[in-house]
Amino acid sequence: MSEHLNYELAIDTWGDEEREAIKGVIDSGQFTMGSKVTEFESYFAEYFGRKHAVMVNSGSSANLIGVASLFFRSDKPLKRGDEVIVPAISWSTTYSPLQQYGLKVKFVDVELESLNMDVRQLDQALSNKTRMIIGVNILGNPAKLDVIKEFANKNDLIFFEDNCESMDAELNGVKTGSYGHIGTFSTFFSHHISTVEGGMFCTDCDELNTIARSIRAHGWTRDLPENNSLVLPKKDSFNEEYRFIFPGYNVRPQELNAAIGIVQLRKLPDMTKVRRKNHQYFQDIFSNSDHFVIQKENGISSSFSFSMIISPSSSIDRNKLFKVFNEERIKFRMITGGCFPRHDAIRYFDYEIVGKLENSNLAHDRGFFVGNQPFDIRDKIDRLRSVINKLVL
Ligand SMILES: Cc1ncc(COP(=O)(O)O)c(C=O)c1O
Repeated sequence: MSEHLNYELAIDTWGDEEREAIKGVIDSGQFTMGSKVTEFESYFAEYFGRKHAVMVNSGSSANLIGVASLFFRSDKPLKRGDEVIVPAISWSTTYSPLQQYGLKVKFVDVELESLNMDVRQLDQALSNKTRMIIGVNILGNPAKLDVIKEFANKNDLIFFEDNCESMDAELNGVKTGSYGHIGTFSTFFSHHISTVEGGMFCTDCDELNTIARSIRAHGWTRDLPENNSLVLPKKDSFNEEYRFIFPGYNVRPQELNAAIGIVQLRKLPDMTKVRRKNHQYFQDIFSNSDHFVIQKENGISSSFSFSMIISPSSSIDRNKLFKVFNEERIKFRMITGGCFPRHDAIRYFDYEIVGKLENSNLAHDRGFFVGNQPFDIRDKIDRLRSVINKLVL
């Protein structure tokens, strides 16, 4: 066993400030959704240039209330049987709400180099039943959001942007998560900021904001903004306290998560800078490799991690490489969730595959990623290089 320290996929990024914030919440005695959540939501919306941010208990929940809210909006709500275009590589809970709400999923391939949706396939995926397109920014790298947005506008589609793994990335001077009608974020431990668990639903639409706030908490009216766009005449206080207007969930966040989020968001610009420095170092070493396809940046990546796909022409055996990584305590994992239609969960979906998912399958069978962190990890990247060199030479 090597004496080197572990090269982890993710590590703790909290300092004294986060611990102080936790103590503040404990001292306040207010634990469930309250003023810290409201403060974090305002700060988050401002940082990402959105009118509204609704905090929930995970990125998965943000996707869930996002899809649900589109079924209850007044203008052209989604209906069961409507079609949604998605990239074949994303996380399971990008897709789960689509199945749960009876939508038909159309998978298109990704580009091998960016790992994001291959927008050249959009025309082929489009039918007269298509109502929505989900753009996912994979591993910190912006998808072709400008092209997707234009395609959505041209064809009167909802653009749902899953930005759960690309917080603080930018395309054409605009933060990712701000392109779609709805943008979702995750603040899970391993992501760009950590509130342990947490997520954010963002939109500029007043009505979707109101609906999402109701669906987040039981489907009731209690937490709706004053003068909300649903214009509900108030009932007497007894009935208003327990008034349910949508089939909701309870995916509320806690004050602890929000208080930590406020501190972490303040640190985000500096953390992204460090991630990008590591990213540049990794690119300098591996971008000319004959053995690996590494992720090519579109716009400005916030570099969640470093993906590596063993080139079809390379003789490297992935299992052998994994064995050496294990010996050297270099952690690795599948790229996001791999090619989703390869998972058993697909049997429950109404779906169609557009073209051949050649690149998604290559990433699934020959790819993996190693970690990036908001700390200088150039020594770890050097070790990765030397381990790989030994195997290749
Ligand atoms: C693209 C994508 N969407 C959604 C999620 C779900 O976020 P969470 O883990 O906070 O539920 C993830 C999680 O990593 C993700 O990568």
